Amino acid sequence: MPKRIRLALIGLGNVGRGFLELLTTKQETLRTRYGLELVVTAAADTSGAALDARGLDAALLLVRKRAGQGAATYPVAGRPGLSALDTVRRAHADVLLEASLTNLKDGEPGLSCIRTALTRGLHAVTANKGPLVHAYPELVALAQERGAGLGFSAAVCGALPTVNIGRRDLVACAIARIEGIFNSTTHYILTSMAEGRDYATALREAQEEGVAEADPTLDVEGWDAANKLVILANSVLGIPATLADVAVEGITRLTPNDFARAQAEGKVIKLLCTAAQEEAGYRLSVRPTPLPRGHPLVTLRGWQMGIVYHTDIMGVQFAAVDERGPVPTAAAMLRDVVNLV
Ligand SMILES: NC(=O)c1ccc[n+]([C@@H]2O[C@H](COP(=O)([O-])OP(=O)(O)OC[C@H]3O[C@@H](n4cnc5c(N)ncnc54)[C@H](OP(=O)(O)O)[C@@H]3O)[C@@H](O)[C@H]2O)c1
Repeated sequence: MPKRIRLALIGLGNVGRGFLELLTTKQETLRTRYGLELVVTAAADTSGAALDARGLDAALLLVRKRAGQGAATYPVAGRPGLSALDTVRRAHADVLLEASLTNLKDGEPGLSCIRTALTRGLHAVTANKGPLVHAYPELVALAQERGAGLGFSAAVCGALPTVNIGRRDLVACAIARIEGIFNSTTHYILTSMAEGRDYATALREAQEEGVAEADPTLDVEGWDAANKLVILANSVLGIPATLADVAVEGITRLTPNDFARAQAEGKVIKLLCTAAQEEAGYRLSVRPTPLPRGHPLVTLRGWQMGIVYHTDIMGVQFAAVDERGPVPTAAAMLRDVVNLV
């Protein structure tokens, strides 16, 4: 008999729906390869929630949500107006999956949901940077105290195992430097600018392609990438960094001249995230940086993302991902669930 794992899913947007899709396509693989049966017993969005300890029909939930019907309208189990937090309080669940919106002001509603789940002894898996940037040390301490797991590999570049390589694989390493391209929207725009477009044209085309948001501020000003660097600094480097510790410069002021100059020097401009060890500790920055053509991150194109770890005993490690759409992020949440249970 497979082990039955009950899930409470907060957020049924791109990522939440991607997760439901994986439950329908990967259930057999999960059963045969890991001996697991994953069942959604609670799901919440802005309409309210659906709760059923015996399990909701993930495929039905997905079809209904795609048709614009919120969780609260789910037959019999629907609870109109039930908040995400009350859903976590009431859910019969083993794992919280938190995929609500990123709120960089206070991390809510995700932060309270994760706190409550961990306090109840549930594992918590999140794709949401907000709660981690606001309260990483607190959440880790709470998880330890309650004997619960906290998975967040989806929050830093989706399926690219940035966190997992750093925490799991670089055993006993000193990390002299982390370099990364952590934001696919800006990378797409910069790739386009390197081909000769100006910033406004490259942004407009990225928006038409659906790569950039209508309001791209968090991406193009460098804050999305900075949030990811803060989470890596806390979780991999073990330093209690906050956004205030990161020198952040976006891509909005780059001109075709900058690209021409870089090209003449045999370099390519990337929005580089760096954690560099210095005598006083790690210096954290996100800024447009001309990289020499031999640099591994220069090989990245379009919406790809990548990370380079410079270590003392395991060499220089480079990982990259070519991912588009929310499913790889949902798959990273699934990875965390499997690893935790
Ligand atoms: N999209 C990606 O590829 C990606 C990659 C990495 C990380 N992430 C992170 O993953 C999270 C989800 O992203 P997404 O693209 O799925 O976002 P999204 O499409 O905007 O979905 C957000 C979901 O959260 C729900 N929600 C918002 N406020 C809520 C509240 N107060 N109570 C309950 N539910 C609430 C929304 O409900 P309604 O459906 O009713 O509007 C929606 O279902 C974000 O934190 C994002 O930063 C996303």
